[in-house]
Amino acid sequence: MPDRIEDSFKDLLASLQTLKFYGNEHPIFKKSVDKAYQSLQGALATREELVVGIVGEELALEKEILFDLSKSVRPTIMYLKDRGIEKIVFYRGVQKEELEKFITFLAMPKEEIKKEAQDYLSLMGIKNIAAGKLKIATAGAPSSPGSFVIPRQFLSNLKFLYEDSLNKVSDSLTGILNSQEVEAATLRFSMHNIMESLQTNYQEFLKLTTLKRYSLETYVHLLNVSILAMHFSSKIGFNKDDVLDIGIAALFHDTGKLYISRRVLGKKDRLTEEEFSQIKSHTVLGAEILLKYVESFGILPVVVSFEHHLKFDMTGYPKIPFLQKPHIASLIVSICDVYDALFQRRGYKLDYSPDMIYNVMIKEKGTTFEPLLLDKFFRLMGVWPVGSIVSLSNGSIAVVRDEHEDDIVSPKVEVIYPADRKEIIDLKERKDAIKIERFLNPWKEGKDFLHLI
Ligand SMILES: [Fe+2]
Ligand SMILES: [Fe+2]
Repeated sequence: MPDRIEDSFKDLLASLQTLKFYGNEHPIFKKSVDKAYQSLQGALATREELVVGIVGEELALEKEILFDLSKSVRPTIMYLKDRGIEKIVFYRGVQKEELEKFITFLAMPKEEIKKEAQDYLSLMGIKNIAAGKLKIATAGAPSSPGSFVIPRQFLSNLKFLYEDSLNKVSDSLTGILNSQEVEAATLRFSMHNIMESLQTNYQEFLKLTTLKRYSLETYVHLLNVSILAMHFSSKIGFNKDDVLDIGIAALFHDTGKLYISRRVLGKKDRLTEEEFSQIKSHTVLGAEILLKYVESFGILPVVVSFEHHLKFDMTGYPKIPFLQKPHIASLIVSICDVYDALFQRRGYKLDYSPDMIYNVMIKEKGTTFEPLLLDKFFRLMGVWPVGSIVSLSNGSIAVVRDEHEDDIVSPKVEVIYPADRKEIIDLKERKDAIKIERFLNPWKEGKDFLHLI
């Protein structure tokens, strides 16, 4: 995490304090806005947007939770939360006047805030800053590469359930990080909710997990892997209790990573040997931490944390000479883990389309992944997962609605564009006439079609 971003946030908070002390006409406030604006410009020099989020009581800049900074600015975090602000996005091109107005808005007495933050910002003519609840559409915000504007129609009950679960899950993870008591019953209950919904309406959930891979990656990754692992294990015949146990183990598989330096985890350049072994240690570290929670969650999270990078052929890490092969829960989690990790990379420069992900993973069949499990996984998910936006060979744009286990490349799709060609097409039945040509990345070329889904 470049210090610049942290500094720009600190400067922003400082000018909010200054405003509260001196009022918005005072030169000291003006000066502090100048400083905040300068450092914001610095941070935006190398990126299109700067995303600040609040997860639980922690601050996340970009996609990383900043535990140390959060500690020192906790009252401000709570203050923002209290005003319904869990996420702020600054877009490149932001003007100093906009920043000043925004800080003034933040200082408004709570009683005067009767609308959603985003509506206020629009009213005040602020175009290059968006703010509001985490993950809610920043309608009206300018679109820029890498920004994510999720249409409001996605805010279905399922999404709230997902987010509520996400919050509870965040609380548990934060608890574990701080070695606190974890509300095991609450967590189990949330996971249970997810599982029930998966069984009745799993496609909705998969759609959400497909589209929501954009922020606060660590948390979202954990929940995604957990949902995938539960869906997968229930489909291959595990009973409800086992599915829940696998889901919880999946949820905690990367717990050790939360202790590894964010500088190392986020490093774009080649890692040094020392850095790589730090990252590798997350398996053992996580297992050690989770050992303290065996009474609440059982031993499976410890096993999965320890083994999820072992690989099916045992060539991964950590090196364990006496083990023959990983536990089936670890094999399941490792498939879901890699699948989700590859999907998440779509948000960045490296564009992995679903068919590329399929090809990458299938190459590892029998080495990294257990062959039967991997085949079954793709029979369930299809090559083009439910919710993917794709272009068809007849020129129209469609969204994948359902998979065929016996034909993983020809799902059922719904044409969404052009408007006069709207229909459901079963590509398996029309194999010779129409096929999927290309995946449209929902952050890029697919973005224009999101509102049609
Ligand atoms: Fe991992
Ligand atoms: Fe992972």
